[in-house]
Amino acid sequence: MNLLAVKPLSRIIAESESGEHTLKRTLGPGNLVALGIGAIIGAGLFSLTGIAAADHAGPAVILSFLVAAVGCAFAGMCYSEFSTMIPIAGSAYTYAYATMGELLAWVIGWDLVLEYAVGAATVSVSWSSYVVKLLHTFGISLPQRLTICPWDVVPGTNIHGIVNLPAILIILAVSTLLIVGISESAKANAVVVVIKVAIVITVICVGYFYIHPENYHPFIPPNTGVFGEYGISGIMRAAGVIFFAYIGFDAVSTAAQEAKNPQKDMPIGIIGSLAICTILYVAFAYVLTGMVKYTVFKNDPAPVATVIKYIPFIWLQTSVIIGIIMGYTSVILVMLLGQSRVFFSMSRDGLLPRLFSEVHPRLRTPWRCNLFFMVFVSLFSGFVPIASLGHMTSIGTLLAFVIVCAGVMVMRKTNPNLPRPYKTPLVPLVPILGIVVCFAMMASLDGITWLRLVIWLAVGFVIYFGYSRHHSHLNKTDAPTPVVR
Ligand code: ALA
Repeated sequence: MNLLAVKPLSRIIAESESGEHTLKRTLGPGNLVALGIGAIIGAGLFSLTGIAAADHAGPAVILSFLVAAVGCAFAGMCYSEFSTMIPIAGSAYTYAYATMGELLAWVIGWDLVLEYAVGAATVSVSWSSYVVKLLHTFGISLPQRLTICPWDVVPGTNIHGIVNLPAILIILAVSTLLIVGISESAKANAVVVVIKVAIVITVICVGYFYIHPENYHPFIPPNTGVFGEYGISGIMRAAGVIFFAYIGFDAVSTAAQEAKNPQKDMPIGIIGSLAICTILYVAFAYVLTGMVKYTVFKNDPAPVATVIKYIPFIWLQTSVIIGIIMGYTSVILVMLLGQSRVFFSMSRDGLLPRLFSEVHPRLRTPWRCNLFFMVFVSLFSGFVPIASLGHMTSIGTLLAFVIVCAGVMVMRKTNPNLPRPYKTPLVPLVPILGIVVCFAMMASLDGITWLRLVIWLAVGFVIYFGYSRHHSHLNKTDAPTPVVR
């Protein structure tokens, strides 16, 4: 078996077009930008901004947002080239299979579990903390030890939590929706996008009047002597952490098969949603760190609930928190859906057991795959702290970005004549800069996060060499092509 065997593009496209449910091309540039924003704005902004400021960068978290945006912009251009050249579902996994061979495709597909499944767990934990705050405003208090994981302590005490039950419940609920067959509908997504953007703009505009300029001093708190604790290294580590907030623009590329005019619209969708979010994020971080001292956000996964208390309108406080809770639900949905699509593709290629691509006869959803991830993600949601989950998601996604940037250069060499409706500008400069900036963010994350990444990849290699390469359909002509909606 050739580990470098690539899956021919013609076959990838033929497989995507066969079957009774080929996807309809209905999405225009506006829908694609909305899809991007729907997937992007979530826990990264509403939770990790505070934690990154408190632990790593202080008010200079604003600069961290810019660093992360630059890395994403380079990677986004590379994603655009691939998504217009291979305008079908499967995203980075499919791109790697077409360019760099089966082993790297496996690595990226396996790695995407960190982006999608662990990412969904991160958002669910943040969801839980906002739900707890909301219930508080209605005078309802849940038993605290049942709302935090065993590694966290009840604030102001030494008592550890038992399980984060609300976080598990939202994963169960969204997985059930996926099993019964809800898929992102452009209309429902548009409503959620409006709500989310409205909240961000409201916090920015109203919060602006409650800024105390002294909170910006020092803008870059001096480094404590430890890498990543303030100073320049702190800004970089915070960039690696809040990079999480940008994850999701690549989800636009997964919709390439449904785009009316992918050649023109995919780059608009990807770069457009990224640009809008960058502007909103920088303004949001400016207001958040101006309203209270950054140290207030230590261990606080719901910083918006903390600052919003300073705005003396109860109805506004409540509606912002309700909006955040609703907005998170769509991010979790997109992530769990993305996860099942990637494992579905890997299983269809024979790299994973058939159960991941088995479609329910009536519901026509990959229900076993969804059930599997319901359990897998719930365990992370219930028992792992949000910072560890967020760091794992960031490092996993950054690795995927590095591979996609490298893939663009490889593809230019191996398939120079393939039609490229959108060309990444200045190749190899832009992909190389993408690799450098994304790798710098990876490198600034802590050692334990790296260790977890290495262990995760090692487990992946064991599965690949123990199972996947013997079952790969690549060299078989009778590969089944199941269909999912
Ligand atoms: N970017 C998404 C979020 O921040 C994943 O929740």
